[in-house]
Amino acid sequence: MLEIRNLTKAFGGLTAVNNVTTTVEYGKVNAIIGPNGAGKSTFFNLISGAILSTSGQITLRGRDITRLGAARIATLGLARTFQTTALFDAATVVDNLIVGHRLRTRSGLLDVLLNSARLVREEKLCREKALEALDFVGLAHIRDRLAADITQEQRRRVAFALAYATQPSLALLDEPAGGLNPEETTRIAELIRKFVTHGITVCLIEHKMSMIMNIADKIMVLNHGERIAEGTPQEIRSNPAVIDAYLGSDHVEA
Ligand SMILES: Nc1ncnc2c1ncn2[C@@H]1O[C@H](COP(=O)(O)OP(=O)(O)OP(=O)(O)O)[C@@H](O)[C@H]1O
Ligand SMILES: [Mg+2]
Repeated sequence: MLEIRNLTKAFGGLTAVNNVTTTVEYGKVNAIIGPNGAGKSTFFNLISGAILSTSGQITLRGRDITRLGAARIATLGLARTFQTTALFDAATVVDNLIVGHRLRTRSGLLDVLLNSARLVREEKLCREKALEALDFVGLAHIRDRLAADITQEQRRRVAFALAYATQPSLALLDEPAGGLNPEETTRIAELIRKFVTHGITVCLIEHKMSMIMNIADKIMVLNHGERIAEGTPQEIRSNPAVIDAYLGSDHVEA
């Protein structure tokens, strides 16, 4: 799905991602772990085109996307969720979805002013797509609730719905279970699996080790921007370099 070769990102004197070579495998849950500040989110920012790399190459389904911008990469089938989910709190859940999707439709200001046929058609299509996405993530029953009034887990599901609505082939999920309790985390893990069974390859960053060990097919470990290990959960669990990196950090759960 993705091939990353010698990817590096320097912020001034700090090398946040340092010469990383790896792959994201089609149809799998690909996990990235590592201590705070290891470069995980920066890695996602590079892949999604939010920032440009200093050097290296990124290939998405055989296509070089290294120098492409975020909007272009999104149209090639890549979606992402962020560490914090920004929603319009004064809008309903379904309207949050429609706003997210409307940014990607063709009607312009003129269509809005003229209330054109295209606009009406697109509005209807947007609503249908929004409802389908909400249904997929299990939020159909709260579609008319204000975003301000929903739980953390539901907010997270809205973020998943926003990603799902773009019909991606690859979803990058940055700490999807961050701040959730164990029961909520288990349910979000099920939703991640559901993405994969519906043909969406997943690459996720997560600190919750028990969850990662349960759902990841493959894990890459970053430490100080470098890839220090990669393998199955079993291989990673017993890797001395990984144990070392975590013992040197404040990750008690690890
Ligand atoms: N835009 C930026 N400008 C300068 N430094 C940055 C920028 N983005 C990230 N960094 C630095 O790069 C390093 C890696 O940050 P990053 O956010 O990728 O870590 P992370 O692994 O996602 O950490 P966490 O687990 O806390 O989310 C940090 O030292 C961070 O301060
Ligand atoms: Mg991060």
